[in-house]
Amino acid sequence: MTLTWQKVDAIPGWFGAHSYALWRCLLDFQAENVRGDLFEIGVWRGRSASVLASYCRNDETLYLCDIQVDASALDAAFEGVGAKGRNIVTIAAPSSELPARLDLRAMHQTVRWMHIDGEHTGPAVYSELELANRIVRSDGLVVVDDFFSPRYPANTTEAVRYLEKNPFHFRLLAVAFNRGYFCRPESLPRYMDYIAGGLSRALQAYDCPSTIFKTTGPWDTDAVGITSFMAEAGSIAGPDNQPHRWHMMGVRNVWSPWRHIQNGFRMFFGR
Ligand SMILES: C[S@@+](CC[C@H](N)C(=O)[O-])C[C@H]1O[C@@H](n2cnc3c(N)ncnc32)[C@H](O)[C@@H]1O
Repeated sequence: MTLTWQKVDAIPGWFGAHSYALWRCLLDFQAENVRGDLFEIGVWRGRSASVLASYCRNDETLYLCDIQVDASALDAAFEGVGAKGRNIVTIAAPSSELPARLDLRAMHQTVRWMHIDGEHTGPAVYSELELANRIVRSDGLVVVDDFFSPRYPANTTEAVRYLEKNPFHFRLLAVAFNRGYFCRPESLPRYMDYIAGGLSRALQAYDCPSTIFKTTGPWDTDAVGITSFMAEAGSIAGPDNQPHRWHMMGVRNVWSPWRHIQNGFRMFFGR
């Protein structure tokens, strides 16, 4: 893959360097064992879509929905990042028309990455999450742009309302660089393990030193917040009003070695 930030930055649009780094980390993580299609609502000239195109394999499809699709701009964007010739399906329509335009039965839980960056209104983001629930895989991710942005309050309140009304559809995994990252409840531990274990180093490798705030646990909204690196907090920080618990994720062994051996015996002998 020949993708670089400089190539993405040459495409007009709204996608920033920090999100670029985080997307690459999470898409690299998915590359290990998640297969599926990619989907974006709100494409503009293909800036964020160029990253998705770069990660789209030959046996996968990239769906792009926008009220207006500028095909030549998208061609140029994908050529610019060395991702020409991907399986692309464009839908030039508001996202509200997607359920009528797509074969939802065939697409049932086939998408591994869905980026919602379109209208940013309450009704739109709510129905886009309803669509996401139909098509996103159990190990997939949904990314909502402008999450917690003061510009679009309803974008956040209605996404949260969706979660409250549908607690088994998605959980909030992370809030980072103006976006919310959601996964299926059953995949939260897997993504959280990666965030606790490998993400800091991976972000650093993409020139994005970061601080991952883990300010609560599974008894609560078990999400992390990710910011640019803050020296006083370090790369992973716990509750900022309880400094003695900072780095709590560094010592988060739930089981002692003895407990692992005990469990090995239990599994071996079946009791
Ligand atoms: C912020 S731009 C997307 C930026 C793009 N993701 C990038 O990386 O530069 C928002 C896009 O959403 C589109 N849009 C607005 N309302 C929409 C809707 N209801 N359905 C689909 N697309 C919509 C606009 O036409 C615009 O191209």
